[in-house]
Amino acid sequence: MLKQTMNVAVLVSGGGTNLQAILDEQEKGNIKSGKVVLVISDQKGAYALSRARDHGIRAEVVARRECASQKEFEERIRGLIEECGIDLMVLAGFLSILSEDFTADYPKRIINIHPSLIPSFCGRGFYGLRVHEAALAKGVKVSGATVHFVNEIPDGGEIIFQKAVEVEEGDTPEILQRRIMEQAEWKLLPMAVEKVCSDMLKEEIQ
Ligand code: GAR
Repeated sequence: MLKQTMNVAVLVSGGGTNLQAILDEQEKGNIKSGKVVLVISDQKGAYALSRARDHGIRAEVVARRECASQKEFEERIRGLIEECGIDLMVLAGFLSILSEDFTADYPKRIINIHPSLIPSFCGRGFYGLRVHEAALAKGVKVSGATVHFVNEIPDGGEIIFQKAVEVEEGDTPEILQRRIMEQAEWKLLPMAVEKVCSDMLKEEIQ
């Protein structure tokens, strides 16, 4: 039997506004080729976990600091991914780095949202507000967001979608972060989930 929808896991660390954007678009019928069936957080108190549970989605915590090693951390994630038959992992503000051993096992099966126009302000150490602090310190006039496949190079995988957002006079990192979320991230990530799942379904048919 050919699959009708791809099973999606969303990996989070914090507030989960990008997770919310995916769930909203799914409920509006704009994500038809995939379905979020699992949310994994590397932080116990992440608000994203409540968002998942409010939508009746299984939500699990795999805390890096409670694992003896990176290997154990990734084995626990892998266990959940296999148990739930996940086809696509979406890193939506997931701030732990996944090792090459892990990412190599899921080529084109992990995507990430990054809050800048890659290759600017990306790679190790660039996450969350730090990205916007660096963009403002450089004085760029446009920034934005990028959705890309995840490979062994942090923020180095093939780009799926990008959207530019204006930097405005007087922006703080928080104001710029919010504008990039509203104008770019919350649109691009749900679109990318649909596109990648739909492409995967087409591959199944061939
Ligand atoms: C988002 O801005 C996302 O792009 C960023 O963390 C934030 C998470 O917000 N991710 C990175 O910086 C990854 N390098 P959210 O929890 O509200 O979706």
